[in-house]
Amino acid sequence: MRDQIFTKANDLVNFTFDKSVANVFDDMVRRSVPGYQSMIEMIGLIVKTYGQDNTNYYDLGASTGAVTLALGLNNPHQHNRIIAVDNSIEMVKKCKNNLDGKISNFDVICSDINDISCENSSIVVLNLTLQFIPVEQRQALINKIYQGLNPGGVLIVSEKIHFDDPKQQEKITKLHLDFKRANGYSELEIAAKRQSIENVLITDNEKTHFDRLNSAGFSQSLCHFQCLNFASFLAIK
Ligand SMILES: C[S@@+](CC[C@H](N)C(=O)[O-])C[C@H]1O[C@@H](n2cnc3c(N)ncnc32)[C@H](O)[C@@H]1O
Repeated sequence: MRDQIFTKANDLVNFTFDKSVANVFDDMVRRSVPGYQSMIEMIGLIVKTYGQDNTNYYDLGASTGAVTLALGLNNPHQHNRIIAVDNSIEMVKKCKNNLDGKISNFDVICSDINDISCENSSIVVLNLTLQFIPVEQRQALINKIYQGLNPGGVLIVSEKIHFDDPKQQEKITKLHLDFKRANGYSELEIAAKRQSIENVLITDNEKTHFDRLNSAGFSQSLCHFQCLNFASFLAIK
């Protein structure tokens, strides 16, 4: 279903992942996040290299299940459980519907990702989710994920990022707006969504991401994918 949430100048409230967003999420994310499809494809590649048999894979902030599906379809092993977690009941319903019949070895859990344990894991994914977690809770979440990973396991973090250089920030932001316009969003929709989401989606810069991953204990972390102001980081335990 096409995203038309911000086509009318309604009284704006803070963006939430409610039923109206869940219904159009797949269209919204593809038209708003440059490189989204490639971002998901990279996760499919990574599970082939870093997935370990007899371990759990976690998709934290799973929304409609694109990451879980990529993990399931590309998993080279036989004995894994993929656990998709989201705290929006509407997303959880969509996720279950999308995955049923396509992969078999998964659970979809409605929970705050801060409240679950990620034991015996070899792949943990935070795809466009960490940016919605309060900044002061982010380090504790990454620390917990690190603790639950087996040696050699990986965390993938994809995020909208900002740049310290104002000129770079301005140029990339312009290109991102052009991307949205090219995908059919009007100026009104772009402005309204920005206003609705600005208190909810808080970006970090690349250095903050690397510092946080290093501080959790990851032995190696790198940016394996970037498209404009969206980057994916691979951290290896
Ligand atoms: C941008 S979407 C993630 C997109 C998805 N990972 C994908 O790749 O298509 C962010 C998701 O995180 C969920 N979320 C935000 N905060 C959460 C929390 N504290 N616990 C669980 N889920 C959360 C939202 O409900 C939303 O579905």
